[in-house]
Amino acid sequence: DQRDAYIAGLPKAELHLHIEGSLEPEMLFDLAQRNGVAIPFASVEEIRQAYNFSNLQDFLDIYYQGMGVLLKQQDFYDLTWAYLERAHADHVRHVEIFFDPQGHTERGVPFADVITGISDALADGEKQWGISSRLILCFLRHLDEAAAEATLDEAIPYLDKIAGVGLDSSEVGHPPSKFRNVFARARSLGLKLVAHAGEEGPPEYVHEALDILGVDRIDHGNRALEDAGLVSRIAGEGITLTVCPLSNLKLCVIDEIGQSPVARMLDAGIRATVNSDDPAYFGGYVNANYRAIASALDLSRAQLKTLAANSFTGSFLPEEAVAHLL
Ligand code: HPA
Ligand code: ZN
Repeated sequence: DQRDAYIAGLPKAELHLHIEGSLEPEMLFDLAQRNGVAIPFASVEEIRQAYNFSNLQDFLDIYYQGMGVLLKQQDFYDLTWAYLERAHADHVRHVEIFFDPQGHTERGVPFADVITGISDALADGEKQWGISSRLILCFLRHLDEAAAEATLDEAIPYLDKIAGVGLDSSEVGHPPSKFRNVFARARSLGLKLVAHAGEEGPPEYVHEALDILGVDRIDHGNRALEDAGLVSRIAGEGITLTVCPLSNLKLCVIDEIGQSPVARMLDAGIRATVNSDDPAYFGGYVNANYRAIASALDLSRAQLKTLAANSFTGSFLPEEAVAHLL
């Protein structure tokens, strides 16, 4: 309909996208064959049928298994290129992409192959479509801080390719404070800081991400709405939340799409953005996420335009570049 056409035509940025979560079942199946990796699925259809989750951990188990087919630099290039094609089709002009190096180095894949494959594709995407990008290295929070420190050590030779660090994986039981030292070091290296917080974890984790890690942005942040003081602070300080509606639905963070917090966040004066998180697993790329909430929450064009504008103002692009894209 008309609203869908309006969404499709809006220039936008995507700020919450795990590149490993853009691994479509078809590519997973092809890479398993190309690399001789055994997978417990006989067909693409069987893979897709396994994508039914009742919480974050359910998903993460399948997500880590899926990324096991990524072995070579070319695999990371192909994965990233396929995402950029989809992003381009959705009129995405800028992407800030997460990657999970520990999900690869622990399987013996060299850090260099991961980051070179991804960043070569990002450079080619900029040449081909003018899509600008930033890369954000995520630490797996179910592992300890020493492992995160070792990963940051490995990243030092590639800091010209890395804009920031983030924190993802199993949230509850792994509060941001567990990573205070490695985030402090990342800051001292000039890196931007983000963290997943308040997806399944309590508002206290959002406080910790802001106060103890000093993050520049919160990924998800749904449960911040349970704390009125926190809502005022996030609105007052202009902190960006990267919300992922279809992810929230698939991981049972919400029971139906109409419960997406995006409209309530906008009403509270929060700089909310719309993102796809792990589109191959959650059933849609960024425009599908906009369409789902636009319909369920009956969002106006003004609200949709605000969300798209927020994606640029909440990005790590310099102000002049943002002004040019708005
Ligand atoms: N939450 C936490 N960790 C993740 C996610 C997520 O939505 N996607 C990939 N890793
Ligand atoms: Zn995420």
